[in-house]
Amino acid sequence: MINPSFPLLILLLLCLNTGLYQAYAQPVQRTVYFVQPEYLWYKGSIIYNVDIDAFKDSDGDGVGDFQGIIKKLDYLEWLGIDAIWLAPFQPSPMQDNGYDVSDYYGINPLFGDGGDFSEFMYEAEKRGIRVITDLVINHTSKEHPWFQQARRDKSSEYRDWYVWSEERPADWNKGMVFPGVQEETWTYDEKAGAYYFHRFYKFQPDLNMRNPEVRAEISRIIGYWLRMGVDGFRLDAVPFILEDPFSDLEDPEHDFGLLTDIRSLVQWRKGDAIILGEANVLPEENQKYFGDEANGMHLMFNFFANQHLFYALATTELQPLKSSLEETRDIPKVAQWAHFLRNHDELDLGRLTEEQRNKVYEAFGPNENMQLYNRGIRRRLAPMLGNRKQLEMAYSLLFSLPGTPVIRYGDEIGMGDDLSLEQREAVRTPMQWSDEKNAGFSRADSTIRPVIDSGPYAYQQVNVAAQKRDPNSLLNWTARIIRLRKENPEIGLGDWEILDVGSPDVLAIQYQGEGRSLIVLHNFSPAPKQIQLKGNFDTDEMINLLTDDEANKFKKGKRQITINGFGYQWYRIQNDE
Ligand code: GLC
Repeated sequence: MINPSFPLLILLLLCLNTGLYQAYAQPVQRTVYFVQPEYLWYKGSIIYNVDIDAFKDSDGDGVGDFQGIIKKLDYLEWLGIDAIWLAPFQPSPMQDNGYDVSDYYGINPLFGDGGDFSEFMYEAEKRGIRVITDLVINHTSKEHPWFQQARRDKSSEYRDWYVWSEERPADWNKGMVFPGVQEETWTYDEKAGAYYFHRFYKFQPDLNMRNPEVRAEISRIIGYWLRMGVDGFRLDAVPFILEDPFSDLEDPEHDFGLLTDIRSLVQWRKGDAIILGEANVLPEENQKYFGDEANGMHLMFNFFANQHLFYALATTELQPLKSSLEETRDIPKVAQWAHFLRNHDELDLGRLTEEQRNKVYEAFGPNENMQLYNRGIRRRLAPMLGNRKQLEMAYSLLFSLPGTPVIRYGDEIGMGDDLSLEQREAVRTPMQWSDEKNAGFSRADSTIRPVIDSGPYAYQQVNVAAQKRDPNSLLNWTARIIRLRKENPEIGLGDWEILDVGSPDVLAIQYQGEGRSLIVLHNFSPAPKQIQLKGNFDTDEMINLLTDDEANKFKKGKRQITINGFGYQWYRIQNDE
């Protein structure tokens, strides 16, 4: 006799093998597509910024190149970074470090060719390293064929790709991004017989974003590089891309619809590609740039917190930094701040009050030669701080701020600057790999920019090879703190709160998320400070993640400890795993 449940079993087996089961199972599978913050790779990543021309020269012409960076990918993998942000590498007259593009679809021949680029992408991917590239669409180089045709011929289809005025506009000398170096924002072009608009240097004419043809071209550029394998873009000069150049240049109107278009395109073409925006705006503007949930940028550099962080480093006065973190707290769930200490530009202090700015100048850039554009400092971090303890404290803070840390090549070994170079070139000297000729950067007799070969930051002392051998070097310390950061993903993902620990010089942040909790402490003062922990947890169970010496101080229910001058501590206080 057939067991009555047998046909049922057959039916069940059939269902499992057929579309019926799949149809039934689909809703369950679909849940994995809900955007959970932990799926967003950029929330748990460390980004490393490279100027390709200054990183590693492989062919001996004195200029860094793609084959050079390929050779150094093992080093970057070892360091623990997750993504490389490549500064512009397209053909360019290089009057602004490549931010003056003359062909959006090419590779600057000094750096290699398409084959070298794709090899680089392959080798990076092989090591699990993502690549984001600068997208400079606010302007082109004056040498770009579009501009050359536009200026030559009024009836050219490219004429309207740029922004012209027959008459000199009333605000021709307003709104310069590089005051002191740049004299105007509207410049007369003899060939064109008209004035063209340029927010930046006069060799960087602004593209006319109100022209649909220009927007279509930008889509092609984005689509092209995504097809070439990049994982996203560092979108250059965002507020300027969106502005209407015929509105008030000092308080222009912005078209945020363009940002939504860019975001949609990026996402449609490559689901997990990101936009990391350069927008130095006030906190009340943030929401517009991030959009609601998914129509603005994924990541934005937190320039506001950065400037107040430098103020705190200069003065030990923490309140403005705390407020800046609070004021930039509310962003969409899928968005994230990118935190940084220094970048390839000047340290922009334009959002501080004059009094605050002067205090930062006094501490970190007292000579006029160190200052730039009436608002900033053109130095690297290590010489600005001048001592290892404070440098470690600053980096420990960077790696534990609520957001994604972005570091610049050479920061990990504490590279210096060359103030004899012009403007921002001071912080763009070749990477110091070893104590060999030209710091191991190139075998050429002369290099794109001189290597630093005198003073305390000379390559003979400060270089990767020497620091790799020394277990106590800044490089080995940085590799360790990067690992620590990655072991504590709640820093990028969890909720955070600034704690009152009873000392005005100590910043304490508590993270909570996914059953884990972490407290990070940073003493901005060179003097030891006493702190008092409040909160509902057992100090007996606190684990010091960095050092042993402070670890036991909290034992036996003690809640008060002394933290060293420029000291920093990361404590795990609860772990349900
Ligand atoms: C951005 C870049 C800067 C460049 C400017 C013009 O601000 O960071 O280096 O000079 O755009 O493209």
